[in-house]
Amino acid sequence: MSIRDLVRWGDARLLSQNEEVVSSDAGLAALIVDLLDTCHAAPGVGLAAPQIGVNRRVAVVDLSVGEDPSAIIVLVNPVILSTSGEQKEEEGCLSVPDVAEKVVRPAGVVVRAADADLRVREIEGSGLLARALSHETDHLNGILFVDRLRGLKKDLTWRKIERRRARGAW
Ligand code: NI
Repeated sequence: MSIRDLVRWGDARLLSQNEEVVSSDAGLAALIVDLLDTCHAAPGVGLAAPQIGVNRRVAVVDLSVGEDPSAIIVLVNPVILSTSGEQKEEEGCLSVPDVAEKVVRPAGVVVRAADADLRVREIEGSGLLARALSHETDHLNGILFVDRLRGLKKDLTWRKIERRRARGAW
């Protein structure tokens, strides 16, 4: 379909409420295709609807970045059911360009989400997949990865982002 403009930090749509999806329609199908096209073009391993300016509870994850269609995970109305353990790895976000920090995330997650046809299923992920599922579900709750940093690191990173944006980096 089409590659959409990415919404960057500072845009209120990243922090807005996202509407629950209640029907599987042409609009939902088109949104999912646009999310995948935009995610692959970026390139990134995941993208949430508010990042292309659509405040609906829809996101995609594709650790293969377009190489393997079977790796595509569509998340409609995702909810994290349970988490286990901890991992701390470097993470970034297409809405916060050129900023990467080590973020603590669960080592494993179980997510309940519907697919494009609104069939609800549970998705289990560990490692990078757990990180991506957490990161994209966070977006639908208005949470950015920087919000997951702790203490001084969080303050310094927010300041860095504000400075970059003020300088016109995006
Ligand atoms: Ni992100």
